[in-house]
Formats: sequence, structure tokens, C-alpha cells
Amino acid sequence: MKTFTNLLVENIDNILLITINRPASLNALNRLTIQEIGAAIEELSNNSELKGAILTGAGDKAFVAGADISEFTSLSVEDAKALSKAGHDIFNSIENCPKPVIACVNGFALGGGCELAMACHMRIASPNARFGQPEVNLGIIPGYGGTQRLIQLIGKGRAFELLTTADMIDADRAEELGLVNYVEMQGDLIAKASEIITKIAKKAPLAIAKTVVCVNAYFDKKQNGFDTEIDEFAACAATEDFKEGASAFLEKRKANFTGK
Ligand code: COA
Repeated sequence: MKTFTNLLVENIDNILLITINRPASLNALNRLTIQEIGAAIEELSNNSELKGAILTGAGDKAFVAGADISEFTSLSVEDAKALSKAGHDIFNSIENCPKPVIACVNGFALGGGCELAMACHMRIASPNARFGQPEVNLGIIPGYGGTQRLIQLIGKGRAFELLTTADMIDADRAEELGLVNYVEMQGDLIAKASEIITKIAKKAPLAIAKTVVCVNAYFDKKQNGFDTEIDEFAACAATEDFKEGASAFLEKRKANFTGK
């Protein structure tokens, strides 16, 4: 496994546990950390042994307290554009990853931290988690997809309120709004995420990958998600796993999927 400067990356039973490890700055995302997250997700996509990934923050206080504000002091318009674009590309790679990526939000998920959690396929939060987009306090707006993904997850009116008031919400409210899938005690976050990834890993891998494509197509204005579904459904018909899945059901046995 590649080693990283700002991440701890472990393979636990073929689940990649990615821990953002800058606790002294509440795991704030500097440029290098974002690049390293991109590299870890690439490893997940390319390594056929891996079932999925869990993203979390080091310590018990923060998932990620935002973009690293110390990198904001001398940001030109060109720099800001490049920073935002690089973040978009890497966060999109999480969203489009063919295997599940779950955020275990173990504390503050603010600004880029909330955006990172939202780029993951699911979120599980501990009771001390706090979500928010406080960028307007700094005279800026979210730059890693937050203005878009927050609307997708909780709707326009609620997203507008959080984006403009910079209010933080707690884990229960985040669950109520659909921003998180589950609230679990901090010590149980990884186990819960692993349980979900293990369950998904028992299904046909290509069908999971195609589900990611279809779900994301809904939000892509250049695509018609219904047409994408027709195409991906048809592509499933050509897979060995589809034949295996249907035969196994009829033969009353467990399917043995190979990802082909
Ligand atoms: N970027 C860089 N450093 C950060 C940071 C960020 N986004 N968030 C926290 N830190 C650093 C603090 O500067 C502090 O460093 P220091 O010990 O060297 O002074 C350390 O992390 C601990 O933070 P602190 O503010 O002392 O903790 P707290 O418990 O009082 O408050 C927060 C926690 C999360 C409410 C507060 O740190 C905060 O508001 N952070 C910024 C959130 C934000 O605006 N994010 C969006 C950025 S676009």
C-alpha cells in the first residue's frame, strides 16, 4: 500500500479505511490532502480485491473542519479557480467511484468537510457531528461542489438556509434532513460502515457500478437518467453475473458473482 503524508490508509478485510490525519488543524483539507484522497480513491477503483472505502477524520473532534484556511491568504482569482477545479475533479472521482465510499463523520464536517462527506455515497455520523457550510463567514462560497450537492441531498430551501446563514446542524437534524443515513455512537461508526460495504460486496459488482452511473446520471443535466438506466440495464444482460444471479435464484442456491 502506498504511504501518504496526511492520510492513514489501512486495508481492513479488503475495505480501505482512509483517515484524514491532521488533527492539530482539525483535519483541514490542504492541497496535498485533497490530492492524496484522490490517489487513495484511485487505488480503490483499480484494485479488484478492494470492496469499498470508509473516509473518516483522526481524533474524536473533527471529520474535517473545512478547507485549510491558511492556504487562503494569498489566493489569486486564477489560483482559486485551479483549487476549486482540482477539488471538483477529486470529489467527482469519489462520487463516480464504482465501489461504495462511506463517510464516517466523527465530529465537525464544515465547509470542505461537509462537501467531502456529501461527495461520498453515504454518510454515517456520530452524535457529536456538526455539519455546516460557513464559507460566507469568510467572504467566500463553497468551492468543492457544496452549493450543488447540498441541494441534491436536502432540497433548495433548506440548502439555501444553511449556505447563507452558515448555521451548523447536529447529527439528529442531519439525519432528519436526509444528509446522513445513520447516527451511530462514535466507536461504532466504522463497524456500521463496514457492515454496509460488506453487504454490498456480496452483490454483483458490475450491477453496483452501473447503479452508481444511473444514480449520478439523475443529477447530470447532460444526461437523461431514464435513458442511462435503459442502457445500463441492457449492459447488465450481457454479463456473466446476470446469468449466474438468475440461475442461482431458480436453482435455490447462493449466487457466486465474479464481476464479469
Ligand atoms: N483551516 C485551518 N486551520 C483550522 C481550520 C481550518 N478550516 N479549522 C480549525 N483549524 C485549526 C485552528 O486554527 C486551531 O489551530 P491552532 O490550535 O494552531 O490555533 C485548531 O485547528 C483547533 O481549532 P479551534 O478553532 O481552536 O477549535 P474550536 O473547538 O475552538 O473550534 C471550529 C472548532 C471547527 C468551530 C473552528 O475551528 C472553526 O470555525 N474552524 C473553521 C471552520 C470553517 O470556517 N471552515 C470552512 C473553511 S472554507
